[in-house]
Amino acid sequence: MNRPYIIINCAMSADGKIASSVGSQLRISNNEDMRRVYNLRNEFDAVLVGVNTIQADNPKLTIKEEYVQNPKNPIRVILDTHCITNEDALAVDEQAKTLIITNGECDKNYKSNVEVVQCGVDYEGFIDLNQMLEILYNRGIRKLMVEGGGTVIWNFLKLGLVDDLFVFIGPMIIGGKCTPSMADGEGINQEDELINLEILEFRKIGNGLLIHYKMVK
Ligand SMILES: NC(=O)c1ccc[n+]([C@@H]2O[C@H](COP(=O)([O-])OP(=O)(O)OC[C@H]3O[C@@H](n4cnc5c(N)ncnc54)[C@H](OP(=O)(O)O)[C@@H]3O)[C@@H](O)[C@H]2O)c1
Repeated sequence: MNRPYIIINCAMSADGKIASSVGSQLRISNNEDMRRVYNLRNEFDAVLVGVNTIQADNPKLTIKEEYVQNPKNPIRVILDTHCITNEDALAVDEQAKTLIITNGECDKNYKSNVEVVQCGVDYEGFIDLNQMLEILYNRGIRKLMVEGGGTVIWNFLKLGLVDDLFVFIGPMIIGGKCTPSMADGEGINQEDELINLEILEFRKIGNGLLIHYKMVK
């Protein structure tokens, strides 16, 4: 299957959480790490998130000029099976192109920078990631940065559709049994199902730690 090179980038607390216990956004990264993230985005053809991240955080998914000179905003990709992304969400503003990957009809009235792309679904009723990646590849997307949330990251990892992972660990605990974590979804049941990673590099960034892993296939 033709697919882009795929990385995951995620910021989590020392206990592996990526948001508050009610799913609202928390500042886990520091400014230095944000600079790294914006520079990374600048190297990618597309950035991808799930629709829950759009609803919870309302991210713009563009690049701030204070961090990168003459940025080239990547295409924003939203996995949104039922096309519920609001017309006024920041991720569909006119600053960059956006693809909304959906399965059914879409009655929204987005601006011309937004394209709604039809895709099949998997056994869980989620967008079929293999099919979606082939669609992106056929549109010339060769480098894809997956930014969350936990359900999306889990599904990419589960299917082995990840090349590199960049995890920034902030020096705080969030806690909570049901707090979103870096990889949610159903999880594994036994040792032979473990999703194995290899650490390629780690470095301190300000008050946190960045770990670069590759996926062991
Ligand atoms: N710290 C960080 O780095 C970071 C980054 C991003 C997000 N977050 C946090 O993550 C939380 C949201 O995570 P989440 O797990 O609830 O949701 P999510 O991963 O953002 O989105 C999941 C939703 O995307 C849609 N989807 C469609 N196809 C999918 C597929 N193949 N695999 C997975 N999802 C698919 C599904 O909704 P439909 O069925 O409706 O399409 C699914 O429920 C928020 O609290 C946010 O603050 C943190």
